[in-house]
Amino acid sequence: MSNGFVIRSLDEIRFWSRIMKEHSLFLRLGFRCEDTQLIQEANQFYATFEAIEARSHSFDGTADPQVIHRFNAEVHIAVSHIWVFKRKVLGLILQCQLPGQNNFPLLVDHVSREAFYFRNRLEQLNSGRLDPLPDAIINENVFFLRIMADHAKFIGHLLDPSERKLVDQARQFSEEFDQLLFQARDLDSMRPQSQTVPLLDQFLDQNRVSVKSLRDFKRTARDLIESCRIKSIIHPLLADHVFREAERFLVIIDMFESTLTGRPIPTEQLMSLDEH
Ligand SMILES: [Fe+2]
Ligand SMILES: [Fe+2]
Repeated sequence: MSNGFVIRSLDEIRFWSRIMKEHSLFLRLGFRCEDTQLIQEANQFYATFEAIEARSHSFDGTADPQVIHRFNAEVHIAVSHIWVFKRKVLGLILQCQLPGQNNFPLLVDHVSREAFYFRNRLEQLNSGRLDPLPDAIINENVFFLRIMADHAKFIGHLLDPSERKLVDQARQFSEEFDQLLFQARDLDSMRPQSQTVPLLDQFLDQNRVSVKSLRDFKRTARDLIESCRIKSIIHPLLADHVFREAERFLVIIDMFESTLTGRPIPTEQLMSLDEH
């Protein structure tokens, strides 16, 4: 275990523990007032991930790898629990046991997939079994393209229907990302023959173009929501949350690209990686 292990672990935990903390808030906001037990559980998860996030910032790259290995294992337990909670909530919604609650089933499934992804990453880090680059490129893109397609759908459904132009833009992004996801799955099923440098490079280039434009759309939506210039039921923090996930995907695409082609990553992106 090395310095790279420590840096990578802290980067993943800093980013995803904040995300898990915010999911707890979004779930709580969607529950009905009478669902006091669920509200309390969500609040507990919020506190748990807030504490994990704070601890992740108390370490730096010089931390003892053994300590970080134990920290990863601890976080893994918390993430497993929030995953179970999210799936339980999904079950309750789908069995119509929370009539009138306000989270879409797809959103609850979505946040559970993000928890599963985070948990899997912690397992990979602690076992030292990260995917080789050609597999990582396809797996991460299949995961994140679906996440991006979902975000476009949530935005489209949570904007006020009178915001016709923005709703239409969101619908277009949803279709574009569904298409990219299908392409990614095709590349996936053509493994390992599809894992040539030119094909993977083109795949990254094409995805980058669309993710950048979705990221810009999310930034605009976030700014408009924050300044109360558009009508929606989107919490400003949710708007920022989906924006940050798009930024994360872009950083990952650029890291893959530079590893694949040997071209250095622009400094500005390295700095944004530091902030996570
Ligand atoms: Fe999320
Ligand atoms: Fe998300």
